[in-house]
Amino acid sequence: MLPRNMAKNKTSVGYKGPYGYQKRRDGEGRSCVRYKCGLTNTIQDVLRQRPGWIEVKDDGEWDFNWCDVGWLRENFDHSYMEEHVRISHFRNHYELTRKNLMVKNLKRYRKTLEREAGRIEAAKCDFFPRTFELPSEYHLFVEEFKRSPGSTWIMKPVARSQGKGIFLFRKLKDITDWKKDGSRSEEQRDETQVESYVAQRYIENPYLISGRKFDLRVYVLVTSYIPLRTWLYRDGFARFSSTRFSLNSIDDHYVHLTNVAVQKTAPDYDPEKGCKWQMQQLRRYLTARHGTKTVEALFKDIDNIFVRSLQSVQKVIINDKHCFELYGYDILLDQDLKPWLIEVNASPSLTASSQEDYEMKCHLLEDTLHIVDMEGRLIGKEKRVGGYDLMWNDGPVYRDVDLETLGSSCLSANTHLGCVNDRKKQLCQLLKPIPGQKRI
Ligand SMILES: Nc1ncnc2c1ncn2[C@@H]1O[C@H](COP(=O)(O)OP(=O)(O)O)[C@@H](O)[C@H]1O
Ligand SMILES: [Mg+2]
Repeated sequence: MLPRNMAKNKTSVGYKGPYGYQKRRDGEGRSCVRYKCGLTNTIQDVLRQRPGWIEVKDDGEWDFNWCDVGWLRENFDHSYMEEHVRISHFRNHYELTRKNLMVKNLKRYRKTLEREAGRIEAAKCDFFPRTFELPSEYHLFVEEFKRSPGSTWIMKPVARSQGKGIFLFRKLKDITDWKKDGSRSEEQRDETQVESYVAQRYIENPYLISGRKFDLRVYVLVTSYIPLRTWLYRDGFARFSSTRFSLNSIDDHYVHLTNVAVQKTAPDYDPEKGCKWQMQQLRRYLTARHGTKTVEALFKDIDNIFVRSLQSVQKVIINDKHCFELYGYDILLDQDLKPWLIEVNASPSLTASSQEDYEMKCHLLEDTLHIVDMEGRLIGKEKRVGGYDLMWNDGPVYRDVDLETLGSSCLSANTHLGCVNDRKKQLCQLLKPIPGQKRI
C-alpha cells in the first residue's frame, strides 16, 4: 500500500481509528462511520437507520462504501484506502459472477482436483450444467450438441441479468440465425465486437411444486479469499415461474425462467408474497415430502456448491482486506433432488417485492454490517452472527454442540440454510452495546 504522500493522484478515503471508528482528539470520544451508498433500495434504509452512521455525498471522505459494480470499475484503482475502510465488492468479482468466467474457473478447478486428488474428488464439482462460451467455443459446443440429439439448450448473454437476452433452443439452425442478426446487444449493433454468450444444457427435469418450476436465491458473504472465510445466511427464498412447466413451449419465458417479472394475473399470485416462498417454507415442504435425511443430504450438497465455487476462484480473485462481497447464488433443483448451480450474482437484487421480503432483506443487510463490523464489536472468533453462520474458515466449520456432546467422530457442518432464524435473540447475547448508544 502506498504511504499517504505517495498517493497524491489517488482519492484518499477514510481515516484510521481504533475499531474502525474515527477517533477525534482525546476526550471527544468516538465519532461516526461515514458511509457512501450507490444504491437506492433496502440497503439505503438500513444504512440510514444504523446508529452512529452518517451519509457522505459526492466526493466527501468515507469509511464504508456500498457501491455498485460500475462505481468500482471506474474508481477502485484510483482510490487510496486507509486500513479500516471497507467496500462492498472485490476488484475482480466478475471472475465468479460473469457466467462464462464462472464456468471457466470451475472447469479449471475440476481439472486441478482430478490431477491432484483423483476422480472422485473432482466429481464433487459436477454441479453445473455443461456449458460453452460462444463464439469462442463454438466448435466444441457443436460437437457436444451432436452427441445429445433432441436435448434442450439455453443461451444466455454472459453479463446481463433478469432474463434479458435469454432463449432456449433445440436446433443448431436457431443459433446460426441468431449469429447472423441477434448476437449483438442494442448498444453493440454498430460495433464490430460480438457480445459473448454461454450455451448451456437446459435442466429438463426441474423439481416442480404445483406444476411450477422454481430456483433458490441464497446469500453467501465472503469477508476474505485468502484465507477463505465465508458465511451462509439462514434465510433466502424460492422464486417460482408464473406458468406451469412444460417442455412443449420453449419460447415462453414465463414457463422456463424463474426470474422474469411476475405476472400479477397468474391464478395463484399472492400480492402479499409475490411468486416467492421463504427458504424455511421450502425446507419444511421438502422435509414433509422426502424426510429429514434426504433433505439434510440435499442441503449438504448445496453447501458443497458454495464452498467449491468459491475455492475455484480463490487464487484468481484479488484478495484485499478492504473488500467483502455479498453474493446471491441461483440454485435449481431437479427431480432427483440434485442441486445445480445456475449463476452467482455480485449485486443480488436488494429491492423488496413485499413486506416480508423487505424485512428479510433488511435483516440480511443489518447482519452483513454486523459481520463487516466497522464498530469493532466482534472478537473475531464468532461462528454465528445474527442470521449468518460461519461456513468456511480456511477449512470446514463444525457445530459446537457436536464438539461438546458427540465428539469429533460425527461432526456436522455449521450451516443452517432454511432453519429457524432467531437472529434477534442471538444478536442480543452477542453484541456489546456501543458506548453512549442504545443496544441494537
Ligand atoms: N441451465 C438451465 N436450466 C434450466 N433453467 C435455467 C438454466 N439456466 C437458467 N435457467 C433459468 O433461467 C433463469 C435466468 O438465468 P440466469 O442464468 O440466472 O440469468 P440472469 O438471472 O442473469 O438472467 C434462472 O433463474 C433459471 O430459472
Ligand atoms: Mg439469475
